[in-house]
Amino acid sequence: MTPSDRLNQLPDGVFQELAIAAHERRKKGLDVIDLSVGSPDLPPPPHAVEALIRAAQDPREYRYAITALPEFHEAVARFYERYGVTLDPEREILQLAGSQDGLSHLALTILNPGDVALIPDPGYPIYDAGVRLAGARVEPIPVDAETLQPRFDAIPPEVWRQAKMMVLNFPSNPTAAIATRGTLERAVALAKQHDLLLVHDFAYSELVFDGVQPISILSIPGAKEVAIEFNSLSKTYNLAGARIAYAVGCPDALAALRKLKSHIDFGVFLPVQRAAIAALTTPWDGYERQRAVYAERRDALCEALGEAGWPVRKPAATMFLWAQTPGGQPSYPFALALLKETGVAVTPGIAFGSRGEGHVRMAFVHDIPVLREAARRIGAWLRQHHG
Ligand SMILES: Cc1ncc(COP(=O)(O)O)c(C=O)c1O
Repeated sequence: MTPSDRLNQLPDGVFQELAIAAHERRKKGLDVIDLSVGSPDLPPPPHAVEALIRAAQDPREYRYAITALPEFHEAVARFYERYGVTLDPEREILQLAGSQDGLSHLALTILNPGDVALIPDPGYPIYDAGVRLAGARVEPIPVDAETLQPRFDAIPPEVWRQAKMMVLNFPSNPTAAIATRGTLERAVALAKQHDLLLVHDFAYSELVFDGVQPISILSIPGAKEVAIEFNSLSKTYNLAGARIAYAVGCPDALAALRKLKSHIDFGVFLPVQRAAIAALTTPWDGYERQRAVYAERRDALCEALGEAGWPVRKPAATMFLWAQTPGGQPSYPFALALLKETGVAVTPGIAFGSRGEGHVRMAFVHDIPVLREAARRIGAWLRQHHG
Protein backbone atom coordinates (compact mmCIF):
# COMPACT_ATOMS: atom_id res chain seq x y z
CA MET A 1 0.00 0.00 0.00
CA THR A 2 1.38 3.41 -0.92
CA PRO A 3 -0.03 6.30 1.11
CA SER A 4 -1.35 9.31 -0.79
CA ASP A 5 0.82 12.33 -1.49
CA ARG A 6 -1.64 14.17 0.70
CA LEU A 7 -0.80 11.96 3.68
CA ASN A 8 2.90 12.01 2.96
CA GLN A 9 2.92 15.78 3.49
CA LEU A 10 2.18 15.29 7.19
CA PRO A 11 5.14 14.96 9.54
CA ASP A 12 5.33 11.98 11.90
CA GLY A 13 8.94 11.81 13.02
CA VAL A 14 9.07 13.87 16.19
CA PHE A 15 6.26 12.40 18.26
CA GLN A 16 6.81 8.84 17.15
CA GLU A 17 10.45 8.75 18.29
CA LEU A 18 9.60 10.39 21.59
CA ALA A 19 6.80 7.87 22.13
CA ILE A 20 9.24 5.01 21.43
CA ALA A 21 11.77 6.45 23.89
CA ALA A 22 9.06 6.71 26.59
CA HIS A 23 7.94 3.14 25.88
CA GLU A 24 11.52 1.86 26.10
CA ARG A 25 11.96 3.48 29.52
CA ARG A 26 8.72 2.02 30.83
CA LYS A 27 9.68 -1.44 29.52
CA LYS A 28 12.86 -1.21 31.62
CA GLY A 29 10.72 -0.43 34.69
CA LEU A 30 11.72 3.26 34.68
CA ASP A 31 9.13 5.98 35.11
CA VAL A 32 8.17 8.82 32.78
CA ILE A 33 6.94 12.20 34.00
CA ASP A 34 4.91 13.25 31.01
CA LEU A 35 4.84 17.02 30.51
CA SER A 36 4.44 16.63 26.77
CA VAL A 37 0.65 16.39 26.34
CA GLY A 38 -1.89 19.06 27.30
CA SER A 39 -4.42 16.56 28.57
CA PRO A 40 -6.09 17.91 31.74
CA ASP A 41 -5.68 15.79 34.87
CA LEU A 42 -8.44 17.56 36.85
CA PRO A 43 -11.94 16.02 37.12
CA PRO A 44 -14.95 17.12 35.06
CA PRO A 45 -17.76 18.92 36.94
CA PRO A 46 -19.80 16.33 38.93
CA HIS A 47 -23.09 17.56 37.41
CA ALA A 48 -21.69 16.82 33.93
CA VAL A 49 -20.71 13.29 34.91
CA GLU A 50 -24.14 12.74 36.51
CA ALA A 51 -25.91 13.90 33.33
CA LEU A 52 -23.72 11.56 31.28
CA ILE A 53 -24.46 8.57 33.53
CA ARG A 54 -28.21 9.28 33.57
CA ALA A 55 -28.32 9.49 29.79
CA ALA A 56 -26.10 6.45 29.30
CA GLN A 57 -28.71 4.35 31.15
CA ASP A 58 -31.42 5.27 28.65
CA PRO A 59 -31.42 3.00 25.56
CA ARG A 60 -32.88 5.79 23.40
CA GLU A 61 -29.68 7.78 23.86
CA TYR A 62 -27.74 5.31 21.70
CA ARG A 63 -29.28 6.31 18.37
CA TYR A 64 -27.32 8.39 15.88
CA ALA A 65 -27.34 11.98 17.10
CA ILE A 66 -26.95 13.34 13.51
CA THR A 67 -27.14 16.95 14.72
CA ALA A 68 -26.80 18.82 17.98
CA LEU A 69 -29.60 18.98 20.54
CA PRO A 70 -31.18 22.47 20.38
CA GLU A 71 -30.49 22.80 24.12
CA PHE A 72 -26.76 22.58 23.34
CA HIS A 73 -26.96 25.63 21.07
CA GLU A 74 -28.99 27.49 23.71
CA ALA A 75 -26.39 26.57 26.34
CA VAL A 76 -23.46 27.83 24.24
CA ALA A 77 -25.30 31.09 23.50
CA ARG A 78 -25.86 31.65 27.22
CA PHE A 79 -22.24 30.72 28.06
CA TYR A 80 -20.91 33.20 25.50
CA GLU A 81 -22.61 36.09 27.27
CA ARG A 82 -19.62 36.00 29.65
CA TYR A 83 -17.47 37.29 26.76
CA GLY A 84 -19.92 40.08 25.92
CA VAL A 85 -21.02 38.21 22.76
CA THR A 86 -24.63 37.59 21.68
CA LEU A 87 -25.13 34.56 19.44
CA ASP A 88 -28.07 33.39 17.35
CA PRO A 89 -28.34 29.76 18.53
CA GLU A 90 -29.45 28.44 15.13
CA ARG A 91 -27.20 30.26 12.68
CA GLU A 92 -24.14 31.22 14.69
CA ILE A 93 -23.27 28.00 16.55
CA LEU A 94 -22.06 24.66 15.19
CA GLN A 95 -21.41 21.65 17.42
CA LEU A 96 -18.20 19.68 16.81
CA ALA A 97 -16.71 16.40 17.98
CA GLY A 98 -13.79 18.33 19.48
CA SER A 99 -12.34 21.51 18.07
CA GLN A 100 -9.70 19.33 16.39
CA ASP A 101 -12.57 18.01 14.25
CA GLY A 102 -13.54 21.50 13.15
CA LEU A 103 -10.03 22.87 12.75
CA SER A 104 -8.90 19.92 10.67
CA HIS A 105 -11.92 20.03 8.35
CA LEU A 106 -12.37 23.78 8.02
CA ALA A 107 -9.63 24.22 5.41
CA LEU A 108 -11.39 21.69 3.15
CA THR A 109 -14.47 23.90 3.11
CA ILE A 110 -12.69 27.20 2.44
CA LEU A 111 -9.54 26.51 0.44
CA ASN A 112 -8.91 25.23 -3.06
CA PRO A 113 -5.62 23.57 -4.00
CA GLY A 114 -3.01 26.30 -4.38
CA ASP A 115 -4.85 28.80 -2.15
CA VAL A 116 -2.97 30.43 0.72
CA ALA A 117 -3.66 30.30 4.46
CA LEU A 118 -1.85 32.32 7.13
CA ILE A 119 -0.88 30.27 10.17
CA PRO A 120 0.95 31.41 13.33
CA ASP A 121 4.53 30.20 13.67
CA PRO A 122 4.93 28.78 16.25
CA GLY A 123 1.38 27.44 16.32
CA TYR A 124 -0.74 24.44 17.23
CA PRO A 125 0.07 21.76 14.60
CA ILE A 126 -3.45 21.01 13.29
CA TYR A 127 -3.70 24.41 11.58
CA ASP A 128 -0.79 23.55 9.32
CA ALA A 129 -1.89 19.94 8.77
CA GLY A 130 -5.48 20.95 7.88
CA VAL A 131 -4.29 23.42 5.26
CA ARG A 132 -1.89 20.88 3.76
CA LEU A 133 -4.59 18.20 3.61
CA ALA A 134 -6.70 20.64 1.60
CA GLY A 135 -3.82 20.98 -0.89
CA ALA A 136 -3.39 24.63 -0.02
CA ARG A 137 -0.24 26.57 0.85
CA VAL A 138 0.79 27.58 4.35
CA GLU A 139 2.31 31.02 4.88
CA PRO A 140 3.60 31.73 8.39
CA ILE A 141 2.52 34.62 10.58
CA PRO A 142 5.75 35.19 12.53
CA VAL A 143 5.15 35.51 16.26
CA ASP A 144 7.28 38.19 17.92
CA ALA A 145 9.72 36.49 20.32
CA GLU A 146 9.35 39.26 22.93
CA THR A 147 5.67 40.30 22.86
CA LEU A 148 4.42 36.91 21.58
CA GLN A 149 1.94 38.82 19.36
CA PRO A 150 1.61 38.11 15.61
CA ARG A 151 3.78 40.29 13.37
CA PHE A 152 1.23 41.17 10.69
CA ASP A 153 3.67 43.76 9.30
CA ALA A 154 6.12 40.97 8.37
CA ILE A 155 3.67 39.44 5.87
CA PRO A 156 4.42 40.62 2.31
CA PRO A 157 1.63 42.44 0.39
CA GLU A 158 1.39 39.72 -2.28
CA VAL A 159 0.77 37.11 0.45
CA TRP A 160 -2.03 39.26 1.88
CA ARG A 161 -3.53 39.45 -1.60
CA GLN A 162 -3.48 35.66 -2.01
CA ALA A 163 -4.60 34.68 1.50
CA LYS A 164 -8.14 33.30 1.95
CA MET A 165 -7.88 32.34 5.61
CA MET A 166 -5.93 33.46 8.67
CA VAL A 167 -5.69 31.52 11.93
CA LEU A 168 -4.97 33.03 15.35
CA ASN A 169 -4.94 31.29 18.73
CA PHE A 170 -5.21 33.10 22.06
CA PRO A 171 -4.55 32.13 24.79
CA SER A 172 -1.88 30.43 22.73
CA ASN A 173 -0.67 26.88 22.58
CA PRO A 174 2.34 26.67 22.65
CA THR A 175 3.45 30.20 23.67
CA ALA A 176 0.79 30.68 26.41
CA ALA A 177 0.40 34.32 25.30
CA ILE A 178 -2.84 36.22 25.62
CA ALA A 179 -4.03 38.59 22.89
CA THR A 180 -4.04 42.31 23.31
CA ARG A 181 -7.33 43.88 22.17
CA GLY A 182 -5.22 45.79 19.63
CA THR A 183 -4.02 42.53 18.05
CA LEU A 184 -7.57 41.25 17.63
CA GLU A 185 -8.88 44.59 16.32
CA ARG A 186 -6.08 44.71 13.76
CA ALA A 187 -6.79 41.10 12.73
CA VAL A 188 -10.48 41.89 12.10
CA ALA A 189 -9.54 45.00 10.11
CA LEU A 190 -7.03 43.01 8.01
CA ALA A 191 -9.58 40.24 7.39
CA LYS A 192 -12.03 42.83 6.06
CA GLN A 193 -9.41 44.63 4.01
CA HIS A 194 -8.17 41.43 2.35
CA ASP A 195 -11.51 39.60 2.23
CA LEU A 196 -10.34 36.54 4.15
CA LEU A 197 -11.87 34.30 6.79
CA LEU A 198 -10.43 34.95 10.23
CA VAL A 199 -10.31 31.86 12.45
CA HIS A 200 -9.74 32.25 16.18
CA ASP A 201 -8.97 29.20 18.32
CA PHE A 202 -10.16 30.05 21.86
CA ALA A 203 -9.77 26.59 23.43
CA TYR A 204 -8.07 28.00 26.55
CA SER A 205 -10.59 30.81 27.07
CA GLU A 206 -11.09 29.99 30.76
CA LEU A 207 -7.47 29.21 31.67
CA VAL A 208 -6.20 32.75 32.25
CA PHE A 209 -4.35 33.86 35.35
CA ASP A 210 -3.77 36.92 37.51
CA GLY A 211 -7.18 38.49 36.83
CA VAL A 212 -6.73 38.69 33.05
CA GLN A 213 -9.98 38.94 31.03
CA PRO A 214 -10.08 36.59 28.03
CA ILE A 215 -11.14 38.34 24.80
CA SER A 216 -13.39 36.59 22.30
CA ILE A 217 -12.68 37.69 18.73
CA LEU A 218 -16.46 38.04 18.32
CA SER A 219 -16.49 40.84 20.89
CA ILE A 220 -14.59 43.01 18.38
CA PRO A 221 -17.15 45.14 16.49
CA GLY A 222 -17.85 43.76 13.00
CA ALA A 223 -16.03 40.48 13.65
CA LYS A 224 -19.03 38.25 12.95
CA GLU A 225 -18.94 39.27 9.29
CA VAL A 226 -15.44 37.81 8.81
CA ALA A 227 -14.59 35.57 11.77
CA ILE A 228 -15.37 32.27 13.39
CA GLU A 229 -14.14 31.16 16.78
CA PHE A 230 -13.53 27.61 17.98
CA ASN A 231 -14.07 26.73 21.61
CA SER A 232 -14.10 23.45 23.44
CA LEU A 233 -15.28 21.70 26.58
CA SER A 234 -11.97 19.78 26.71
CA LYS A 235 -9.96 22.20 28.83
CA THR A 236 -12.63 24.32 30.51
CA TYR A 237 -14.46 21.27 31.89
CA ASN A 238 -11.80 18.54 31.65
CA LEU A 239 -13.91 16.64 29.13
CA ALA A 240 -11.04 16.16 26.65
CA GLY A 241 -11.74 12.48 25.98
CA ALA A 242 -15.49 13.02 25.59
CA ARG A 243 -14.91 14.95 22.32
CA ILE A 244 -17.28 17.87 22.29
CA ALA A 245 -16.70 21.45 21.16
CA TYR A 246 -18.20 24.12 18.93
CA ALA A 247 -17.55 26.88 16.44
CA VAL A 248 -19.35 30.23 16.64
CA GLY A 249 -19.56 33.31 14.45
CA CYS A 250 -19.89 34.02 10.72
CA PRO A 251 -23.00 32.05 9.60
CA ASP A 252 -21.77 31.43 6.03
CA ALA A 253 -18.52 29.83 7.20
CA LEU A 254 -20.38 27.69 9.73
CA ALA A 255 -22.89 26.60 7.06
CA ALA A 256 -20.00 25.41 4.86
CA LEU A 257 -18.47 23.41 7.70
CA ARG A 258 -21.89 22.03 8.66
CA LYS A 259 -22.37 20.79 5.09
CA LEU A 260 -19.02 19.00 5.03
CA LYS A 261 -19.67 17.42 8.41
CA SER A 262 -23.10 16.21 7.30
CA HIS A 263 -21.22 13.99 4.84
CA ILE A 264 -18.58 12.63 7.18
CA ASP A 265 -20.03 12.20 10.68
CA PHE A 266 -23.29 11.50 12.48
CA GLY A 267 -22.87 13.83 15.42
CA VAL A 268 -21.74 13.55 19.03
CA PHE A 269 -22.91 10.72 21.34
CA LEU A 270 -26.10 12.03 23.00
CA PRO A 271 -24.99 11.38 26.63
CA VAL A 272 -21.89 13.46 25.89
CA GLN A 273 -24.13 16.25 24.61
CA ARG A 274 -26.19 16.03 27.83
CA ALA A 275 -22.99 16.26 29.90
CA ALA A 276 -21.91 19.32 27.91
CA ILE A 277 -25.27 21.04 28.36
CA ALA A 278 -25.09 20.41 32.12
CA ALA A 279 -21.51 21.74 32.22
CA LEU A 280 -22.33 24.90 30.27
CA THR A 281 -25.53 25.79 32.13
CA THR A 282 -24.96 24.81 35.78
CA PRO A 283 -23.46 27.46 38.09
CA TRP A 284 -20.02 26.16 39.07
CA ASP A 285 -17.19 27.41 41.24
CA GLY A 286 -14.72 25.29 39.26
CA TYR A 287 -13.72 28.04 36.81
CA GLU A 288 -11.98 30.03 39.53
CA ARG A 289 -10.74 26.94 41.37
CA GLN A 290 -9.09 25.52 38.26
CA ARG A 291 -7.39 28.78 37.44
CA ALA A 292 -6.01 28.83 40.97
CA VAL A 293 -4.75 25.23 40.68
CA TYR A 294 -2.99 25.85 37.37
CA ALA A 295 -1.58 29.20 38.54
CA GLU A 296 -0.14 27.55 41.66
CA ARG A 297 1.42 24.80 39.56
CA ARG A 298 2.81 27.36 37.14
CA ASP A 299 4.42 29.30 39.99
CA ALA A 300 5.86 26.13 41.55
CA LEU A 301 7.28 24.84 38.27
CA CYS A 302 8.79 28.20 37.27
CA GLU A 303 10.35 28.58 40.71
CA ALA A 304 11.73 25.03 40.73
CA LEU A 305 13.18 25.38 37.23
CA GLY A 306 14.76 28.70 38.22
CA GLU A 307 16.37 27.02 41.23
CA ALA A 308 17.51 24.21 38.91
CA GLY A 309 19.41 26.79 36.83
CA TRP A 310 16.85 27.19 34.03
CA PRO A 311 15.06 30.54 34.38
CA VAL A 312 11.78 30.60 32.42
CA ARG A 313 9.14 33.22 31.66
CA LYS A 314 5.88 32.86 33.65
CA PRO A 315 2.96 32.19 31.32
CA ALA A 316 -0.12 34.43 31.54
CA ALA A 317 -2.54 31.66 30.57
CA THR A 318 -3.06 28.01 29.50
CA MET A 319 -1.44 24.93 31.04
CA PHE A 320 1.88 25.40 29.26
CA LEU A 321 5.35 26.74 29.92
CA TRP A 322 7.12 27.87 26.76
CA ALA A 323 10.81 27.91 27.57
CA GLN A 324 13.97 28.63 25.62
CA THR A 325 16.27 25.64 25.68
CA PRO A 326 19.46 26.28 27.67
CA GLY A 327 21.91 27.94 25.29
CA GLY A 328 19.25 27.84 22.54
CA GLN A 329 20.02 24.19 21.76
CA PRO A 330 18.01 22.49 18.99
CA SER A 331 14.79 21.40 20.63
CA TYR A 332 14.42 17.86 19.32
CA PRO A 333 17.78 16.33 20.37
CA PHE A 334 17.41 18.21 23.67
CA ALA A 335 13.93 16.77 24.36
CA LEU A 336 14.95 13.26 23.30
CA ALA A 337 18.06 13.21 25.50
CA LEU A 338 16.12 14.68 28.44
CA LEU A 339 13.48 11.96 28.14
CA LYS A 340 15.98 9.11 27.74
CA GLU A 341 18.21 10.22 30.59
CA THR A 342 15.76 11.67 33.14
CA GLY A 343 12.33 10.34 32.20
CA VAL A 344 10.93 13.87 31.84
CA ALA A 345 8.99 14.19 28.59
CA VAL A 346 8.62 17.67 27.08
CA THR A 347 7.52 18.71 23.58
CA PRO A 348 10.24 20.07 21.27
CA GLY A 349 9.38 23.53 19.95
CA ILE A 350 10.14 22.52 16.37
CA ALA A 351 6.89 20.51 16.42
CA PHE A 352 5.05 23.87 16.38
CA GLY A 353 6.88 25.39 13.40
CA SER A 354 10.34 26.59 12.45
CA ARG A 355 10.13 29.59 14.80
CA GLY A 356 9.45 27.20 17.66
CA GLU A 357 13.03 25.95 17.35
CA GLY A 358 15.20 26.58 20.40
CA HIS A 359 12.19 26.15 22.71
CA VAL A 360 10.35 23.37 24.50
CA ARG A 361 6.80 23.24 25.81
CA MET A 362 5.96 21.76 29.22
CA ALA A 363 2.37 21.04 30.28
CA PHE A 364 1.71 21.42 33.98
CA VAL A 365 -0.84 18.62 34.13
CA HIS A 366 0.49 17.03 37.34
CA ASP A 367 0.41 17.90 41.02
CA ILE A 368 3.11 20.18 42.41
CA PRO A 369 5.31 17.43 43.98
CA VAL A 370 5.54 15.70 40.57
CA LEU A 371 6.41 18.99 38.86
CA ARG A 372 9.08 19.68 41.51
CA GLU A 373 10.52 16.20 40.95
CA ALA A 374 10.64 16.86 37.19
CA ALA A 375 12.49 20.15 37.80
CA ARG A 376 14.89 18.44 40.22
CA ARG A 377 15.79 15.80 37.61
CA ILE A 378 16.17 18.44 34.92
CA GLY A 379 18.44 20.49 37.19
CA ALA A 380 20.71 17.54 37.98
CA TRP A 381 20.89 16.63 34.30
CA LEU A 382 21.70 20.19 33.21
CA ARG A 383 24.50 20.44 35.78
CA GLN A 384 25.94 17.15 34.57
CA HIS A 385 25.76 17.91 30.84
CA HIS A 386 25.84 21.65 30.52
CA GLY A 387 28.08 22.72 33.35
C1 LIG B 1 -4.91 25.32 20.86
C2 LIG B 1 -5.72 24.08 20.80
N1 LIG B 1 -6.74 24.01 19.96
C3 LIG B 1 -7.50 22.91 19.86
C4 LIG B 1 -7.22 21.78 20.60
C5 LIG B 1 -8.07 20.57 20.43
O1 LIG B 1 -9.03 20.50 21.42
P1 LIG B 1 -10.28 19.53 21.34
O2 LIG B 1 -10.13 18.59 22.46
O3 LIG B 1 -11.48 20.43 21.46
O4 LIG B 1 -10.25 18.85 20.00
C6 LIG B 1 -6.16 21.79 21.50
C7 LIG B 1 -5.85 20.59 22.28
O5 LIG B 1 -4.87 20.48 22.96
C8 LIG B 1 -5.38 22.96 21.60
O6 LIG B 1 -4.33 23.03 22.42
